[in-house]
Amino acid sequence: MTESKGVRILALETSCDETAAAVVEDGRRILSNVVWSQIDLHALYGGVVPEIASRAHVEACDRVVDEALRQAGLGWDGIDALAVTYGPGLVGALLTGVSCMKGLAYALGKPLVPVNHIEGHIAANYLSHEELSPPFLCLVVSGGHSHLVEVRDWTEYVCIGQTHDDAAGESFDKAARVLGLPYPGGPRIDALAEEGNPTYLPLPEPHTDGRYDYSFSGLKTAFLNAVHQMEQRGQTLPKADLAASFRHAVVEQLVGKAVLAARETNAPAMALAGGVSANRELRRRMTEACAAEGIPLYLPRLELCGDNGAMIAAAAYPHCRKGEFAPLTLNAVPGLRLV
Ligand code: KG4
Ligand code: ZN
Repeated sequence: MTESKGVRILALETSCDETAAAVVEDGRRILSNVVWSQIDLHALYGGVVPEIASRAHVEACDRVVDEALRQAGLGWDGIDALAVTYGPGLVGALLTGVSCMKGLAYALGKPLVPVNHIEGHIAANYLSHEELSPPFLCLVVSGGHSHLVEVRDWTEYVCIGQTHDDAAGESFDKAARVLGLPYPGGPRIDALAEEGNPTYLPLPEPHTDGRYDYSFSGLKTAFLNAVHQMEQRGQTLPKADLAASFRHAVVEQLVGKAVLAARETNAPAMALAGGVSANRELRRRMTEACAAEGIPLYLPRLELCGDNGAMIAAAAYPHCRKGEFAPLTLNAVPGLRLV
């Protein structure tokens, strides 16, 4: 690797319904970030159809990788290392990306860094805040995960809290479906909630064994029952008020536990990560709560909250520096954990 021009990593992300590739320099500077979303393909079915996702990734991989190189203004000789998400995610979707990058690594003779998708979401913060470095506490909230992670060092993580059941994003998607909103529901609930009354429908506060753990399934069930009762009574659904009430309950739980953990563990800073970190109420409430506690807060740039290749390249960088490369026997690990 040539140090003078910085280390350039080309990463591919295909764990769910985005085919995304990017080139990032030294884990901090985005040279290109191409995201091809499959949402239109899945919206018809109300959720991601794994078979359709895998097929679409296969068709899009080459194109998206080429476009990332082109937008970075580089040829293959300008790339020092490759990186790919190998889990967690949908097995077929992950496999298409892993196979594509293994093929490129072999053909080009370049090292391949295997990246955990969750680590990628956390690293989106390094791309958003040049001055941020570990240690900090990170609330990771996506379609599949709700974790409180102590980021102790660049590649060292300790999970101090997690959901017992649904992930926060998953609960938003399910609540949206009950309100008849199209997939993906999280952003729709968020937009609708801006016009609604968050105290319209009081929802139960969940009980969890772990002090910093989460639970969203009780909330979801209470919400579904309330909506069904209204429908049975022939009532027109006050959708904005319902969306605002659900969002309020989820966000209060997320912020309450995260701030409690930050206080009790003397966290030097807090960050948000994952698709749900785009939620407007979460960003507002977390900003207020961290300001009240005197904890510096880092929010990922909006375009880096959802799945993208730049966050995977950023996460790959410290592993690349340590020479942590994958053999060509690398496989997809759908249930991969961060710690
Ligand atoms: O991180 P992500 O793009 O994919 C996973 O790794 O799961 O997260 C997707 C999730 C979906 O559940 C989506 O509904 C949710 O993030 N989401 C939101 C918002 N934007 C995306 N949830 C609430 N409010 C939003 N603004
Ligand atoms: Zn994700």
